Amino acid sequence: MQLFLDTASVQEIKAANAIIALDGVTTNPTLIMKEGRNYNEVLKEICSIIKGTVSAETVSLDVDGMIKEGIAFSKIAKNIVVKVPMTVEGMKACQMLTKKGIKVNVTLVFSANQALLAAKSGAFFVSPFVGRLDDIGKIGMDVVREIKQVYDNYNFKTQILVASVRNPIHVLDAAKIGADIATVPYSVFEQLFNHTLTDVGIKKFLEDWEKVPKKR
Ligand code: E4P
Repeated sequence: MQLFLDTASVQEIKAANAIIALDGVTTNPTLIMKEGRNYNEVLKEICSIIKGTVSAETVSLDVDGMIKEGIAFSKIAKNIVVKVPMTVEGMKACQMLTKKGIKVNVTLVFSANQALLAAKSGAFFVSPFVGRLDDIGKIGMDVVREIKQVYDNYNFKTQILVASVRNPIHVLDAAKIGADIATVPYSVFEQLFNHTLTDVGIKKFLEDWEKVPKKR
C-alpha cells in the first residue's frame, strides 16, 4: 500500500520524507488555509520535493471553473493530480480533464455508488473519507471494503485512496482491505512508528548493556 502525507506543510513533508520516501501528498483548501501561504507557490514547492503525485483541490462548483482551475494546476508540475468533488459537475470535469490527459482525484466520497460513478468517469484516484463517516456514527471502512469489492468485480483501474484518516487503525484496516493508498496526517504518520513495547525493549537492552564488562 502506498503512503501519502495529508498536509500542505512543507516542513512536515520534508520531515516525513527524510524518514521514508513518501509515495505522494494530498492537500485541500483547509490544509492550505492553515499554512497562510499562496496555494500555487506551496504546490510548486511540494512537487519539487515529492516524486509521486501531489493532489491539488479545485474550489469551483461548475464544470467550466473546475476545468480552468484543473488546467492551471496541471501546469505547475507533471506530478499534480487535480481534485474535484463528487458532484454532477465534478464528474463532468473528471471526464473532460481525464480526456486532456490530466489525472483526477474524486474527493468527498462517502458511498460505494459514488465511487462507482467516479470510476466510470475515469478518475485516477477515488477518495473515500473514513474519519468523517466515523464522526457521524457510520463505519467508514465498510465503504472502503465495498468500493474495493465493486472495483474488483469490474476490474476498474481507479485507485482507492483512503482519506480522512484519524488513527493507525484506519491505516491498518486500509492495508488489510487492499486499498491502494492511505493518506495520513503527520500526527498519524508519527504514531505508525511507535509501540510501547519497542520503547520498553530499548530501555531494558540499554540497562543490560551498561552491565556488560567493557574493554578498557
Ligand atoms: C484528503 O484528500 C482529504 O481532503 C483529507 O484527508 C480530509 O481529511 P479530514 O476529514 O480530516 O479533513
